[in-house]
Amino acid sequence: MGSRPPEEVRTARLWLRCWRAEDAPLFLRAVEQSLRHLRAWLPWADSEPSDPVEVAQRLAGFAAAFRAGENWHYGIFDPGGRQVLGGSGLHPRRGTGVLEIGYWIHAHHVRQGYATEAAQALARAAFDVHGIERVEIRCDARNAPSAGVPRRLGFPLVETIRADPEAPSTRPRDTLVFRLERGERERLSAPSARQSAHEGAKGAPRGADPR
Ligand SMILES: CC(C)(COP(=O)(O)OP(=O)(O)OC[C@H]1O[C@@H](n2cnc3c(N)ncnc32)[C@H](O)[C@@H]1OP(=O)(O)O)[C@@H](O)C(=O)NCCC(=O)NCCS
Repeated sequence: MGSRPPEEVRTARLWLRCWRAEDAPLFLRAVEQSLRHLRAWLPWADSEPSDPVEVAQRLAGFAAAFRAGENWHYGIFDPGGRQVLGGSGLHPRRGTGVLEIGYWIHAHHVRQGYATEAAQALARAAFDVHGIERVEIRCDARNAPSAGVPRRLGFPLVETIRADPEAPSTRPRDTLVFRLERGERERLSAPSARQSAHEGAKGAPRGADPR
């Protein structure tokens, strides 16, 4: 068990690693191609696309925070690292012993199980960190694609926060809180019946890495 999350994680189809400043062009291309899709749910996307220099600085900031053990933003790449398929992260903003997973996927690559695969890998990585007892995923109650990810992974829905006071004031929302406790972590390695059905239907592995 480590003291902090790993710098990189490989799954069956994805390479998650700490962002680097030099990822700025790939990051910007992915965001530009996904703007409408991201703006629907992510306030940071309202001010995108940013200047490439500013993006490089932001990614360098993510790398610095990662190394300092403060916050863990990962780029989601194809296995060769040529394309940004999205972003994810483990965020310590819910108190001691809790990490929250966030994610976005490039608009051209949705509905292929990538968010589920990334979140599964990061949830496992989170429980490999000493002192982490819970992993949470929160989303707008209207964001069905996002809520589908913890549901597929077997995270219980533990709370609905009505008119969430932490939501940006421009976007009032009810927030769904999905939470997996350390004692429930075995759910992450048990593909749901639904996942298995997908695999059979599409002939490709989804959601689970082969470990
Ligand atoms: C939310 C998001 C990351 C999901 O990424 P994804 O890779 O398409 O998700 P998955 O393929 O792993 O889907 C997992 C499950 O979510 C649900 N889901 C995904 N897209 C959906 C859609 N368009 N409509 C309804 N349900 C959907 C399904 O239950 C799906 O499982 P299934 O394919 O077996 O039916 C992606 O849509 C996105 O980037 N959205 C914009 C940013 C965002 O909302 N981020 C989350 C903020 S909390």
